[in-house]
Amino acid sequence: MRGSDGGLCAGATTDVCAGTTTGRVCAGAAGPGATLRTMDADRKIAVVTGAGSGIGRAVARTLADAGWTVALAGRRAAPLEETSAGAGRSDALCVPTDVTDPRAVAALFAAVRERFGRLDLLFNNAGTFGPRSAPVEELGYEEWRSVVDVNLTGSFLCAQAAFRLMKEQDPRGGRIINNGSVSAHAPRPHSTAYTATKHAVTGLTKSLSLDGRPYRIACGQIDIGNAATDMTERMRTGTLQANGATEVEPVMDVADVARTVLHMAELSLEANVQFATVTATAMPYIGRG
Ligand SMILES: NC(=O)c1ccc[n+]([C@@H]2O[C@H](COP(=O)([O-])OP(=O)(O)OC[C@H]3O[C@@H](n4cnc5c(N)ncnc54)[C@H](OP(=O)(O)O)[C@@H]3O)[C@@H](O)[C@H]2O)c1
Repeated sequence: MRGSDGGLCAGATTDVCAGTTTGRVCAGAAGPGATLRTMDADRKIAVVTGAGSGIGRAVARTLADAGWTVALAGRRAAPLEETSAGAGRSDALCVPTDVTDPRAVAALFAAVRERFGRLDLLFNNAGTFGPRSAPVEELGYEEWRSVVDVNLTGSFLCAQAAFRLMKEQDPRGGRIINNGSVSAHAPRPHSTAYTATKHAVTGLTKSLSLDGRPYRIACGQIDIGNAATDMTERMRTGTLQANGATEVEPVMDVADVARTVLHMAELSLEANVQFATVTATAMPYIGRG
């Protein structure tokens, strides 16, 4: 097991083109521009970003339980390894990655290409609300940038790298699922950067869907409201409403989100859930504001 240097999770092997063990793909031999062909055609490969916590962890483990081989990305190695340890498979690949860094994203997808030879799914999930909730006139430039860099630029960089791999591989194609939000539709108070970037993710989803058509690359989006994670901790203590009140809001289990992503992921490439909205049933979203 290696750690924060972009290494492998516990139980993974470094075999490439071994033919018999868990790394039985023939990717390392393919140079730039070569067509990639997976030797184990039945194995489905997924990249999950933000896989060390919350929704990303639940989705990664659910995919693994369903037989997918997962590559786990996020900035911190230790949580990725914890996700892997609870995933019930030994072939996960942990690649500590800052999705805002183009070189790190390139290294992530190069590692997937080398180890597995193909990519069937990107769950483009890494995201942040930002350092704080603030009225637009008080939002600092660096605060704005930090959210744009992760939610929009990070999503773009990962989608672009996945798209390139899916386009060149044989069999061609794959699926990208972007993690938007109900904030891709309606804002909470004092959430300019988060809301703007999540609206932008919708544009990314639509563009990828259109540009992916000729290559059997499907792109859909899940818009979540109030799954119980670190990001939504404040829902349980009270969060600002459009009418100025602060109220506790209902949350739902991340398992419900993970099952939805699995369903989207396992459709044939001839079908696509373009947008799925999954919320805590009683949360104040419908009618918000
Ligand atoms: N929970 C909800 O109800 C809800 C609702 C709507 C949308 N979402 C979306 O769901 C996604 C996951 O959120 P969550 O609720 O599961 O919260 P979370 O537990 O805070 O997960 C965020 C994940 O993103 C990773 N991340 C943050 N910055 C990163 C970077 N620069 N590079 C790589 N990874 C980065 C974090 O890992 P590291 O810190 O290790 O990098 C973390 O694992 C986000 O896109 C969020 O907007 C959640």
